[in-house]
Amino acid sequence: MKNFLVSLFYLFPPIIAIILLMLTPIPSAQLTSNENRILLKIQKLLEYPQVLEGWTNMKNFCYLPPSPSLKIVCKNGHVTELTIIGNKGSPFSQRTEQTSRNLNETLSKRFSIDSFFTVLTKLPNLKVLSLVSIGLWGPLPWRINRFATLEVMNISSNFINGEIPSSISSMKSLKSLVLADNQFNGVVLDLTALASLEELNLSDNKFGPEFPTMADNLVRINLRNNSFRCQIPPQLMQLDKLQHLDISSNEIFGNISSFLFSLPFLQYLNLAANHLSGSLSLNISCSSALTFVDISNNFLLGKLPPCKSSKRTVLYSGNCLSARRSNDQFPSSYCKKGAALAVKPPLRSQKDESKMQLGLVLGITGGVKEQIIT
Ligand SMILES: *[C@@H]1O[C@H](CO)[C@@H](O)[C@H](O)[C@H]1NC(C)=O
Ligand SMILES: *[C@@H]1O[C@H](CO)[C@@H](O)[C@H](O)[C@H]1NC(C)=O
Ligand SMILES: *[C@@H]1O[C@H](CO)[C@@H](O)[C@H](O)[C@H]1NC(C)=O
Ligand SMILES: *[C@@H]1O[C@H](CO)[C@@H](O)[C@H](O)[C@H]1NC(C)=O
Repeated sequence: MKNFLVSLFYLFPPIIAIILLMLTPIPSAQLTSNENRILLKIQKLLEYPQVLEGWTNMKNFCYLPPSPSLKIVCKNGHVTELTIIGNKGSPFSQRTEQTSRNLNETLSKRFSIDSFFTVLTKLPNLKVLSLVSIGLWGPLPWRINRFATLEVMNISSNFINGEIPSSISSMKSLKSLVLADNQFNGVVLDLTALASLEELNLSDNKFGPEFPTMADNLVRINLRNNSFRCQIPPQLMQLDKLQHLDISSNEIFGNISSFLFSLPFLQYLNLAANHLSGSLSLNISCSSALTFVDISNNFLLGKLPPCKSSKRTVLYSGNCLSARRSNDQFPSSYCKKGAALAVKPPLRSQKDESKMQLGLVLGITGGVKEQIIT
């Protein structure tokens, strides 16, 4: 009897513990303690931003309710999505007078983008990484290519500068690359190795002067407001899945090839505010998918192609077109002058020399344009 009681005494606690364990739900997405530590390290490296408040005592990041500014998705104990949207230089599209004081809010001088990405790449199963308006500064480190499985990289509205490291070519899973609204510059290297890429958004940087070379699967391209100074490359003809093309506000020159209007799936075509010249072919067949075309503020001459449709918006002011509504068109002399001054891309061998010349020519172009407009 005494023996029985003793054995019960010893057996019960484990039995109770087992029953209790069975009653508590076992989290299907419990994060490994290692990745837990990495997230806390990220909070520290980002200098404890408001959006990550309350993380310090966090036990399981996978159960955080997603919000517009923070989302963590886990699978089999690993983080697969990390989205952090801060308020340091709010996203470009939402900037107002009131928020403009945040514009120069970078992370402190102590911040090291190298250490930051080194820590990030220790989340080996990441598929979606969005780090927007959190004050990142410095050049994108070479080791970003260690994100072997990354499909979406959105690091828009930060202060990242320099060129895109060529190591990016090995990120074969990348579908969406959004570097918009940063301080990138320089030539965009050949991106044809990124065969899965569907979205490329480089808007509001200083990329250029040559047009990027891209693989054929792209669906959306946004190069708006950069320093591209080149012709529209005929290779774009091969991007037959393209739906959205915005190359506005650059210094793109030369003629507009008719193939652009007949790309089978192209819906949105924005070529506005460039140095495009010559007359449009009247023999254009517009794709029925095309619903928005903006060719305004270029140096275009001649007639508008017969591409009008009630379902299509066509904007063309600020050229020298002989349109019926011609009060928003310049005399053809304006466009002829503008086109003649539109600069050619510098030859690689004479880059520095021609850069100086370009500066000169650009100065002149600006002057002439202003004179004619006023
Ligand atoms: C990138 O982030 C911006 C700002 O939150 C958002 O508007 C945009 O849709 C995002 N793009 C992608 C591909 O995630
Ligand atoms: C490009 O990025 C900017 C800023 O995030 C965003 O406003 C815009 O919608 C994006 N465009 C495309 C085509 O993804
Ligand atoms: C163009 O991009 C720069 C950043 O490179 C930004 O400061 C500027 O306001 C943008 N301009 C327009 C018209 O969007
Ligand atoms: C017009 O386009 C058709 C096919 O797109 C072509 O066969 C024809 O030669 C073109 N005509 C002119 C004058 O360019």
